[in-house]
Amino acid sequence: MVNKYYITTPIYYVNDVPHIGHAYTTLACDVLARYKRARNYEVFFLTGTDEHGQKVERAAQTQGETPLELADRVVKRFQSLWEKLNIAESDFIRTTQERHKRAVTELFVRIEKKGDIYLGEYEDWYCTPCETFWTETQLMDGNCPDCGRPTDKLKEESYFFRMSKYSDALLKHIEENPDFIQPRSRKNEILSFLKEGLRDLSISRTTFSWGIPVPGNERHVLYVWFDALTNYISGLGFPDDTEGNFEKFWPVDAHVIGKDILRFHAVYWPTFLLAAGLPLPKKVFAHGWWTVEGQKMSKSLRNVVEPHMLIDTYGVDAIRYFLLREVPFGLDGDFSHTALIHRINSDLANDLGNLVSRSTAMLTKYFNGILPAATVESAIDAAFIAQFPAAVKTVDEQMNALAFNKALQTIWTLISAANKYIDETAPWALAKDEAQKEQLETVMYNLLEAVRLIALLVAPFLPDTAKSILLTLGDTNRDITLEGKDDWGRLQAGTAVEKAQPLFPRIETA
Ligand code: ME8
Repeated sequence: MVNKYYITTPIYYVNDVPHIGHAYTTLACDVLARYKRARNYEVFFLTGTDEHGQKVERAAQTQGETPLELADRVVKRFQSLWEKLNIAESDFIRTTQERHKRAVTELFVRIEKKGDIYLGEYEDWYCTPCETFWTETQLMDGNCPDCGRPTDKLKEESYFFRMSKYSDALLKHIEENPDFIQPRSRKNEILSFLKEGLRDLSISRTTFSWGIPVPGNERHVLYVWFDALTNYISGLGFPDDTEGNFEKFWPVDAHVIGKDILRFHAVYWPTFLLAAGLPLPKKVFAHGWWTVEGQKMSKSLRNVVEPHMLIDTYGVDAIRYFLLREVPFGLDGDFSHTALIHRINSDLANDLGNLVSRSTAMLTKYFNGILPAATVESAIDAAFIAQFPAAVKTVDEQMNALAFNKALQTIWTLISAANKYIDETAPWALAKDEAQKEQLETVMYNLLEAVRLIALLVAPFLPDTAKSILLTLGDTNRDITLEGKDDWGRLQAGTAVEKAQPLFPRIETA
C-alpha cells in the first residue's frame, strides 16, 4: 500500500501582495512535501488564495477595481513568487472558482440538515482587517483585541452555526489526540479558550455582497472564514470527488498556519467538520511570527525584504535555507540582512560549498575524476561512516515533527564531520606516498559517498543545489528519492565525477 500525505498552507488574502511571512509558510510546506515525496509517499500539497469578504471588497474599492479584477491581478503575484521560490504544489485553489463554491454550498447544506444552522440576529462588533466577530466585553478599549484597530458595530440578520454544541466534543478530541494542535504552547492556548465555553458563530452577512450566497437566501453571503476554511476539502474535490482525491487524502495530515489564525483552524474548522460528520484534521501546526530588523513588518519595511528582490540578490536556495534554519519552527523570529549573509557565508559557502568543491577537486586531481573503491577501513573511516545511518534516522524524526531547523542542524553535523574527515586524513599527504594508495582511495570514496548522502538530505530544502551536486556525481534523475538510496555504499566505484563549480559565492560586506 502506498503511503499518502496531505499538507496545506493557509490560503492568502488577495488584498495584500506576498511577503516573506507568506513565503515562510508555503516554503515550510514545500519542504515537507518534498521530503515525503522523497520517502515515496503520494503527496497532495495544496495552497491558494482567499478572495472573498469585506476586506478584499474594500481593497478593490480603494484601487478602483472590481474584487475579481483585484484578485486576478494579485493571484498572479502569488503564483509567480511560488514559481520563483521553487514551490512544487499539487494544486492551487482560488475561492472564486466554481469547484470551491460548490463545496462551500454543500458543507452549509449538510450542517443545516443536521439542524445546526439557524437564522437569528447579530448584534456585536466586527473587525474587518481580521474578519472576526467580537462581543462588547472582548473588545480592548473599544478596539479589536487581536490587532488593536477599530471595530464596527453590527446589527443585522444573520445565520448562526451552533458551535456551542460542539465544545465538549472538541475538548475531548484535543485531549485524546495530543498531536492535534502543535506546538504544545499553542494547544494550551486553545484549551483555555475552550474552557470558557463556545458561543454560536455568526456565519453570514447582509451588508455587503462579495462572497458566496447562502443557499436558499441570496440576501446573505457566507462569512469569509466559513468560505475560506472549506478550501481544504474543495481543493480535494469535495463533494463530487470525481478524481477520488477527497477519499484518498482526507483527513489532512498537516494544516500549517501562522499563529495568528490558530483559533479558526483549531476551533471553528473542526466544529464545522464535526457537524458535517467529516473526519477531523490529524494536525494543525501554528508557526511563529517574523519581524524585520527587529520591527513589525510594515509596508515601508517590506520593501527591504521583498521576496523577489531577496531571491534575485541571494539566490533561491539561500533564502529557503535561511528561513528554515534561522528560527525553530513554532517560535517567532527576526529577519535581518546581517544574519542572512552570515548564514550564507558560514553554512552554505564555507561548510557545504567547500566540502563539495574540495572533495570533487581532489578526486579530479588524484584519480582523474573516476571514483575508486573503498578497500581498507581505519578507525577514523569507521567512525566517520557510522554517523550517517544514525543521522538519517534522526532527520526523519525531526522532519516528521516539523522541526526543520533541527533537521538542518543534524545534516550540518554530517557536513562538519566530512570537513573534519578531510583535515584528519589529509589526502594531500596520502597522495605523496604510493604505499598509502589504498587509504587514499578509501578516503576519496567515503568523501564522495558522504557528499551524495548529504545532497539527498538537503534536497527538500535546497532543491537546485542538491540536483547540481548529484549531477556532478553522475546522477541525472530528475526526482530525488531517499527511499532505498539513503544507506551507505550506494555510490558505485568507477563513477565519473565532475569537478563541482562553486555552489555559493561568498557575499562580501562593506
Ligand atoms: O489569514 N510571519 O490570510 P493572510 C509569519 N486568508 N507568517 C506570516 C506573517 C509573518 N509576519 N505574515 C503572514 C489569512 N504570515 C486567511 C487565511 S486559511 C483558510 C485563510 C503567514 O493573507 C502566516 O501563515 O492574512 C499567516 O497565518 C498567513 O500568512 C496569513 O495570511
